[in-house]
Amino acid sequence: MDKKDAHIIVVGNEKGGTGKSTLAMHIIVGLLDKAKKVAVIDLDARQKSVARYLQNRQTFMANGGTKVAMPAFKVVGQSTASLVKDREVEDQQSLQEGLDEFKRDVDFIVIDCPGNDTYLSRLAHALADTLVTPLNDSFIDLDLLGEVSADSFQVKKLSFYTEMVWDSRKFRSASGKPPMDWVVVRTRLASLDSRNNKRVHSALESLQKRIMFRYVPGLYERVIYKELFPSGLTVLDLEKVNSLSHVAARQEVRSLVDSLNVVE
Ligand SMILES: Nc1ncnc2c1ncn2[C@@H]1O[C@H](COP(=O)(O)OP(=O)(O)OP(=O)(O)O)[C@@H](O)[C@H]1O
Ligand SMILES: [Mg+2]
Repeated sequence: MDKKDAHIIVVGNEKGGTGKSTLAMHIIVGLLDKAKKVAVIDLDARQKSVARYLQNRQTFMANGGTKVAMPAFKVVGQSTASLVKDREVEDQQSLQEGLDEFKRDVDFIVIDCPGNDTYLSRLAHALADTLVTPLNDSFIDLDLLGEVSADSFQVKKLSFYTEMVWDSRKFRSASGKPPMDWVVVRTRLASLDSRNNKRVHSALESLQKRIMFRYVPGLYERVIYKELFPSGLTVLDLEKVNSLSHVAARQEVRSLVDSLNVVE
């Protein structure tokens, strides 16, 4: 029997610096840690955070570091054609070529989106089997999903981003695919259980029913999530963890990957 096409996980939202690339790196290594075959497409050709991180991982091994599992990866940049129509056709082709290159050989393709609205990013959202949207612990970030009333947290208006995700869902169902699983993950959580933290939690609980996403626990703000970038490692790759905070970080990343419900 033919192997199933890879499951596509897209990490996206339309706000810069919310932790998409950090989340993508940890999901990638979390899946590798479960012995899954993974390929990565970085759609942020300006920053290339995930691609650079993976290059650092290769260099770490080339310089004699312990062998760690590697995904295949490539950067897909936006077309520079002068006509919008031509740009859209070229973007579609380059993303499709990237997917075709990997989809038969791996279990998962993880796509990291840039922090703004691009045609490539929209195409990726329409292809997502699982969409992971990171959200910081703030009402400004909540606006990315929809406007909520200050007292009852009723949804007053959907955001452009949510409308775009809904269009992607319609496109999927029109093409006979199973529904997209939209997972909203809170990142860079403050360790103190603040009043703001609880209010954002309540607002998200109300939004998830109306907008139809799953809201799952995510990653706290921790130095270990950023300090290993130059070596291309994550806390899951460390041979020894000798602090409680690192043990907690490992657990957090593993729980996050489990909560995506993509590995049996
Ligand atoms: N859980 C975390 N703990 C500590 N630092 C974090 C965490 N998540 C992200 N960061 C830091 O926050 C900054 C932004 O993160 P990141 O680059 O992952 O965001 P992004 O959404 O991909 O940004 P962009 O929209 O520009 O692509 C980086 O300096 C990163 O190291
Ligand atoms: Mg990024």
